[in-house]
Amino acid sequence: MRIKTQSKEITDKKEANEFLDRYGLYAEFWQPEVTDASISDALVRFKNQIEKLKKKFGYASADVCELNTKSPNLDKILEPFMKEHHHTDDEVRFTAEGEGIFGINPLVDPPFKIYVEKGDLLVVPANTRHWFELTEKKNIQCIRVFKENPKWEAIY
Ligand SMILES: [Fe+2]
Repeated sequence: MRIKTQSKEITDKKEANEFLDRYGLYAEFWQPEVTDASISDALVRFKNQIEKLKKKFGYASADVCELNTKSPNLDKILEPFMKEHHHTDDEVRFTAEGEGIFGINPLVDPPFKIYVEKGDLLVVPANTRHWFELTEKKNIQCIRVFKENPKWEAIY
């Protein structure tokens, strides 16, 4: 994880946690506990961490979401994510493969960008203004963790 603000770049994990905490965001850095190479399912490889996270924040479910150049209509899918918005439930994303960029507009300070990569968990709390974009590699595999019937309807 790297965080880019107007004035600085944060690469240290502890510093990143402290910075995110100021704006109510939350990050963890996960290593797969299941290292059996034949198991490719991210939900299995990170099962324990997902369960701990669910307990900690009261989430109920998790699924896997993939975006890459093979996704039909990739640009169309990305379009709504790339516009600044918020929703009334948390956006919880663990990057299992690939990379992406979360833009955050904390309103009280200028916007900043969080570059997420393999192993990064990010919780964007409900009502936080944000957007999401892919990097030039255009490839991410995410675990999404959510409450029962999540309200992800974007409010622009
Ligand atoms: Fe969102």
